Amino acid sequence: MKILVTGGCGFIGSNFIRLILNETSHQVINLDSLTYAGNLENLKELEGNPHYQFLKGDIRDQKLAEKILSAGIDAIINFAAESHVDRSILDPQSFLQSNYFGCANLLESCRKFPVKIFLQISTDEVYGPFPKGLADEGCRLNPSSPYSASKAGADLLCFSYHKTFGLPVTIARLSNNYGPYQFPEKLIPLFITNALEDQPLPLYGDGLQVRDWIFVEDACQALLLILEEGRAGEIYNVGGGNQRTNLEVTRIILQELKRSKRLIKYIQDRPGHDRRYALDSNKIKKELGFAPALKFEDGLLLTVKWYQDHKKWWQKVKSGEYRLYYEGFYRQKLGLKKK
Ligand code: NAD
Ligand code: DAU
Repeated sequence: MKILVTGGCGFIGSNFIRLILNETSHQVINLDSLTYAGNLENLKELEGNPHYQFLKGDIRDQKLAEKILSAGIDAIINFAAESHVDRSILDPQSFLQSNYFGCANLLESCRKFPVKIFLQISTDEVYGPFPKGLADEGCRLNPSSPYSASKAGADLLCFSYHKTFGLPVTIARLSNNYGPYQFPEKLIPLFITNALEDQPLPLYGDGLQVRDWIFVEDACQALLLILEEGRAGEIYNVGGGNQRTNLEVTRIILQELKRSKRLIKYIQDRPGHDRRYALDSNKIKKELGFAPALKFEDGLLLTVKWYQDHKKWWQKVKSGEYRLYYEGFYRQKLGLKKK
């Protein structure tokens, strides 16, 4: 298959492309606009690989999308998005632009140049907070942040194109991914890298919010299965079955890095913060035989080790645009004065 991967220079996209090129004979075109979260170094080892091509461009660019599709593409997997909830509180518009209108542009381009599968990468956050039990694919959409609302909007649009125009759209709703190459603004890489630098770990509210964690390579295996065997018009939840409070995750990181829990700094809660997510992933297990391979604690230790071994990668990332972010919003989050 010739696959158009969008957002392939980000965290999950780069892990997915590495998996595809290592384990299959599919060809990949990676379309990424290289926002602050997109990093060519994530896939440096693929330079010169005849099965891989990188194109710098925006998924909202209709001419570009049509040009790529007109050359013959079998499948699209759309990772491209603004992905950080904190940032969506600061700047909702950019989330609507990439996550909703970007997806709309890809769908529209597929009407002119059909593909065999359009796999939209969505999130458990579209179900909103789930105080008890597990969210299955039939649960109502109840997003809380501009980020999750933009993703829920894209999901609805995808299915409208399936129903109205017969586009072969499938949606994968992932729980919290963690692992190598995650931008150090998200909980796990932020806390690992801050701890390594003996900087405070800013924990929102009481730290007892629950997330369901899945190792990124497990999530990518699930996505490959959906791409190859999933049914059009269907939603597949992809969770890790690892529900942990943020405080539990923080304690493991501190313990592993032999740092004091005095580094934890409780800060004012995130506005609209969802208390708990927990996915029911029985459908993908029953239909496609998927189960995550890695236990959470093992995956977390691997991740800690990866950040210990890749200091140059994250120190460079943290000194770029992230530094500006740090000096504004992030300092404010920590209750520090702006520089
Ligand atoms: P990320 O922020 O690490 O990467 C996003 C990538 O998309 C970057 O390379 C960026 O340059 C690119 N991009 C952004 N806007 C673009 C645009 N308009 N045109 C082209 N490229 C653009 O994100 P991630 O954590 O890898 O998440 C990937 C996808 O998975 C997103 O759609 C996100 O909503 C979804 N998701 C992520 C998680 C998670 O835990 N990380 C969980 C569930 C779902
Ligand atoms: O659930 C899937 C979602 O997971 C994805 O759709 C998003 O793209 C991804 O960013 C992630 O969203 P979260 O908001 O859950 O991830 P984040 O790492 O930002 O936060 C995880 C939890 O940790 C959340 O309860 C907020 C808390 N947190 C986060 C940060 C960055 C803190 O307490 N302090 C922090 O500094």
